[in-house]
Amino acid sequence: MNEAIQAVKSGFDVLAVRKDFPILEQEVNGQPLVYLDNAATTQKPQFVIDAIANYYRKDNSNVHRGAHTLSDRATQVFEAARSTVQQFVNAAHNEEIIWTRGTTESINLVAATFAVSQLQAGDRVLVSALEHHSNIVPWQLAAERCGAQVEAIPVTDKGDIDLAAFDKLLDERVKIVAVSHVSNALGTVNPIADIITKAHAAGARVLIDGAQGVAHFPVDVQALDCDFYAFSSHKVFGPTGIGVLYGKRELLDAMPPYQGGGEMIETVSFAGTTFNRLPFKFEAGTPNIAGAVGLAAALDYLSALDREQIAIYEEELLAYVHEQAAEFAGLRRIGEAQQIAGAFSFLLEGAHPADVGMLLDQQGVAVRTGDHCAQPIMAQYCIPGTVRASFSIYNTREEVDRLFAALHKARSFLV
Ligand code: ALA
Repeated sequence: MNEAIQAVKSGFDVLAVRKDFPILEQEVNGQPLVYLDNAATTQKPQFVIDAIANYYRKDNSNVHRGAHTLSDRATQVFEAARSTVQQFVNAAHNEEIIWTRGTTESINLVAATFAVSQLQAGDRVLVSALEHHSNIVPWQLAAERCGAQVEAIPVTDKGDIDLAAFDKLLDERVKIVAVSHVSNALGTVNPIADIITKAHAAGARVLIDGAQGVAHFPVDVQALDCDFYAFSSHKVFGPTGIGVLYGKRELLDAMPPYQGGGEMIETVSFAGTTFNRLPFKFEAGTPNIAGAVGLAAALDYLSALDREQIAIYEEELLAYVHEQAAEFAGLRRIGEAQQIAGAFSFLLEGAHPADVGMLLDQQGVAVRTGDHCAQPIMAQYCIPGTVRASFSIYNTREEVDRLFAALHKARSFLV
């Protein structure tokens, strides 16, 4: 079907959206770029690039400190960005939004403060077997300090979290459950609402790793009732180096600070130091101000699009990918969960994923290969890694066709 007609049919104008992303207009290795590494990082619309450039051109200064106009302006845009995030995830309070460097730091913050202050010897932390290393290792570090255990919630061969097994694992020693909204390795959309309800009924707190979730689904932290939700700006059309930790206010209030430094204190003396109120208690040092401005612009950009139509469009695009895959001899899909978003993980029989990735790149198609920082789930499938094509709002059916044409060529070299 012609792309323009397809866009009209699904009610989402992908070609108009594509024009907002200047990086997509280039050739790579002599071919028009097909960017299918969106789970690693998304591209940035001109609107975001301009917002960051304008900030540096007109408003750059340090925040919360200066007695001058530029500092006031920088503080205003920085705090307005926090409010934009608050609205985007529907947090009840502005101070529940903590700036971090990204999802990884958000999870480390909770593990190093909340977990370490709550866990006791014999307590348990549950994470799914699907998780990214950044939602496993911080808990292992925290558990080691407390004599607690980190255990995996089993995942079925299709790539779904095994909810019956989860039920059996839950008991009064489970203090924290940490799962991804969407798996970066397989694209599984986890039943987080169910998981949160079950964990709460057992008395555990829940952290959701939203790194792969926010770009695909609207997030309402109050409706979900999660205790913490973490995400990165760069996976949702914003700049790298900034991310968000949402936490329920009463939990954040009770948590010890994460890092010491300027901004996070109220008073400092050698007799003792007192700490600032939320959210500043967790924001030591000069923050990534331009990053916050860029993230807010990215969220404004995404919010201006029809997210329901985006979800339909992305679902149709992935269904088209799966149709093509079913007809491709020797292609083994890795992960066929009940609901998948964004990522298509696979292997070509007889070919190493890294070789496939290199041959795709030579044809202008950018994918990621390897274990995707998810070694436990790769071990479950007894594979070292996969080829992963991951999709975003600007990808088209024509690009899916380019991916499969490039795969045919790669196979003819490798197998
Ligand atoms: N976690 C990112 C990915 O899955 C980098 O590619």
